[in-house]
This record gives sequence, structure tokens and C-alpha cells, in this order.
Amino acid sequence: MPKPIVVIGSINMDLVARTPRIPLAGETLTGSAFDTTSGGKGANQAVAIARLGHPVAMLGALGNDVFGDALLKSLKAEGVDTSGISRIPGPSGVAQIQVADNGQNSIVVVPGANAKVDTTLLDQQKALIASAGMVLLQLEIPRDTVLHAIDLCAAARVPVMLDPAPAAPLPESLWSRIAWFTPNETEAPVYVSAKLTVKDAAQQLIARGLKGVVLKRGAEGALVAARDGRAKWLPAFKVKAIDSVGAGDCFNGALAVALMEGQDPIVAAHFASAAAALSVTRRGAQASMPTRAELDRFLDTHSL
Ligand code: RIB
Repeated sequence: MPKPIVVIGSINMDLVARTPRIPLAGETLTGSAFDTTSGGKGANQAVAIARLGHPVAMLGALGNDVFGDALLKSLKAEGVDTSGISRIPGPSGVAQIQVADNGQNSIVVVPGANAKVDTTLLDQQKALIASAGMVLLQLEIPRDTVLHAIDLCAAARVPVMLDPAPAAPLPESLWSRIAWFTPNETEAPVYVSAKLTVKDAAQQLIARGLKGVVLKRGAEGALVAARDGRAKWLPAFKVKAIDSVGAGDCFNGALAVALMEGQDPIVAAHFASAAAALSVTRRGAQASMPTRAELDRFLDTHSL
């Protein structure tokens, strides 16, 4: 049995309205559909991993409301180990999302229980963290908790993949203690000059001590660069995108699975890019994650 991937992060209920386009400030639009679906960047990554067949545990918090009950039930149904999820008095995290007909989205997150994922809660789960083959983090839980998680991983020699979403400044001391860093086009300029080319931005990040970087560019593609000097631009697969919510999370979950299976970083990023391409063809965040069989079939007809 391979070591589990442990995801430390947010769990949200996504309240999703489909609109003809993203509304302007002060504007009222009539939407065409409304869904209440499981989301949260952390939980989305965990479900992506579970559907691709790798053991995964989620560490985070849910409120004691009906959303918390439903989110916990759906994670369990996906085969995610939920023993590291605490139930906390108060509301669960919610995300109010608009998805436009062209697939673009805008999201407002109200953290709820995610804001209460603190260092004490992590310390109670030290054994789970130390058992991991890799730990995945995002920035939808408090920054101090993320930094503490990185300390615990460093002490236990567990590699970390940090998805800086939503982007926030990070201390210099962090870079040499994370293995993989995966910003998208809106997040990368928080860490490197927006004037750099994608390749130079990746090299500058790697020079800080990272093992590898993936600069995600949505429908354009992604640049993967490794410490050994190799870098490759991977154009995105051409698919009919109807909903990009959770696509970046799908990419990270799949990237982690492929790296854990010993794949070369460029092959791993190709695998992740294919998973993300499949996810944008379906509605919802966790609901859109592909299974291993679906991804294998897609990759059979789309080679490097
Ligand atoms: O990355 C997509 C996710 O961001 C949504 O599922 C929403 O919950 C927010 O966390």
C-alpha cells in the first residue's frame, strides 16, 4: 500500500449560480441554474486524488451545520480518510460562485470553520502528517497554520506541494522547505515580477530552493520546470469548457498522484493537465474530477 497523500486545507459548500456572464458591480442578472455542491480547494484536491486511485486523507474543519454533515458524507463516499476532519461549533465554509456561459467564474469564500483550522488542531494530527508520502496545502486556511504545517512536514521529512490560492505574501524562509509550488496566472505576480517571461519566473522561483514549479495558465496551458534545469511548456488540451471551478485543484491532485507514482515531473504535469481538461468539461468542483479509468482513456488518445 503506498503512503497516503495528506491534504491540509479548506472544505466548502459551493453555492453556484449559472449566469450569462459575470455581473458588473451593482448589476442584477437573471441566472439559468443554481446548484449546491461540494467544494473547497483542499477537499477538491483530496477528491481528485481519491478518484485517481491514490490513498488520501483530509485534514481540516467543518461546522456543526447541515452543510458540514453533507460535506463530510460526500468526502467519505469518495473514499477520502476523514479521520483528520474536526467538527467545530458554528458554520461550515461556503463559497458563493458565479459561472458564466463561457466557463469563466468569480468566487467569494466565507471561511467559516476553515478559519478555525489552527496549529493546535494540526499538532493533534502530527502522526497523520508524518505518515504522508506528500502533503498538499493551499491558502484557504489561516496562513500561520499553513506555515506550521510546513514546519511539521520539514521535521518529518515529508515533501510539500503548496498551491498559493488565494495568493498571499509568504516569508522568505519558506522556499527551501517546500518541494512544489503551483501558482496560476493571477497568483504568480505576488511572488515574482509580472514583467518576467513565464520561463524566467519559474527559474527565479526554483532558484529560491524549490524542487519544481508549475505555472498554471488555465486555458492556455502550463509551464513545468524542475531543479535539474528542465522546463517544458504544455499547451492545454482542446476541450469544450463549461465550468472551470476546481480545475486548478484537479491539476494539483493529479500532479501529486503522478509524482507519488514516481513519474518524471514533465510526464506528471501532462497527466495533471489532462485531468484538469476533463474536469472543465463538467459542472461542479468535486463532481467534475475524473476517475482513473476516464483519465487513462483520455491519455490514450492525447499523447505528449
Ligand atoms: O478552487 C475552487 C474552489 O474555490 C471552490 O470549490 C470554492 O469552494 C473555493 O474554495
